[in-house]
Amino acid sequence: MPGSNGSSEGSVEHVIETHALTKRYGKHLAVDRLDLTVPEGSVFGFLGPNGSGKTTTIRMLMGLIEPTSGRAQVLGRPMPRATRTVLPHVGALIEGPALYGFLSGRDNLLRYDSADPTADPRTRKARAEAALDRVGLTAAAGKKAKAYSLGMKQRLGLAAALLQPRKLLVLDEPTNGLDPQGMREIRTLVRELAAEGTTVFLSSHLLDEIEQVCTHAAVMTQGRLITQGSVAELAAGARGRLVVTTPDPGEAARVLKEQGVTDLVSTEDRVTGELPGQNGSGQNGSGQDGSGQDGSGQDLDLAELNAALVGAGVRVRGFGLERASLEDAFVALTGEGFDVAG
Ligand SMILES: Nc1ncnc2c1ncn2[C@@H]1O[C@H](COP(=O)(O)OP(=O)(O)OP(=O)(O)O)[C@@H](O)[C@H]1O
Ligand SMILES: [Mg+2]
Repeated sequence: MPGSNGSSEGSVEHVIETHALTKRYGKHLAVDRLDLTVPEGSVFGFLGPNGSGKTTTIRMLMGLIEPTSGRAQVLGRPMPRATRTVLPHVGALIEGPALYGFLSGRDNLLRYDSADPTADPRTRKARAEAALDRVGLTAAAGKKAKAYSLGMKQRLGLAAALLQPRKLLVLDEPTNGLDPQGMREIRTLVRELAAEGTTVFLSSHLLDEIEQVCTHAAVMTQGRLITQGSVAELAAGARGRLVVTTPDPGEAARVLKEQGVTDLVSTEDRVTGELPGQNGSGQNGSGQDGSGQDGSGQDLDLAELNAALVGAGVRVRGFGLERASLEDAFVALTGEGFDVAG
């Protein structure tokens, strides 16, 4: 059995690691045997529709609720057992940050800081001002928190998480309530933090947002993990559609159909379709052999297709695969769009 002290090594490769982590509410499995691996230095997107178990997972990771079964490690230490040693290294923004409405944003922040026994009171003001500045709240810092908009509250919660430099930031839907400009600012901030060496774990139900800012992602539906990995890998798991640009779309479609291309869609000067042998609902985003996309097998298919078109007298102006997005990967994995679960 590990001793109460010094049982974990200094360096941690996986900042978050869970094994069969489960949370049950009555009959409902909010989180179902989750195995999550968050590499150090990543910006990790925890993606899932409403009710898929994101906040419940984050609460378990932060030691706020006990798992029903399974294990969670944060910064190499077991949670919730090591909450007191782990949390000082973690900045967290969890659904609806608690604020004192009668205090200004600035005073709320000073209060947060004074609740931290490791925070030096002499530098408190400077820390609060720096955090307010980082989240773009300086101008509104004197306003009472009860008069804050949802987006401003979100920014204040984020400022609280940024008072100290952290190894890990856990942000539950950080852009919730923000306008497009605010969302952009938060994305920029997240990239800056990552560049400074902080691992950022953020949840979102917006695919697009994850794709823009994250290096890695995990996808949840109904308490279960469908896939995780680097964003590039996940997107590569879904092959893009074949796109042929041609002044002879009718003839091109006929030839492509002959060659086994399915789901053909023709417009005036373009034909798109699914390549033969594509498994639409693969279990894992990374495919058979990992990297897939530029594999010679597929290049051969493409070369043959192109030759068949040209051989049949089709004038080909453009030929290639549309880049697959994370959304394509999601659709390929689940067979459905990214909609809110029940
Ligand atoms: N305290 C609780 N008691 C009972 N059920 C709960 C509780 N907390 C969460 N749940 C249920 O667990 C499931 C997962 O909820 P959770 O809040 O983790 O989802 P989420 O992915 O964070 O959703 P959202 O995107 O809406 O924030 C939901 O069905 C929810 O109703
Ligand atoms: Mg949530």
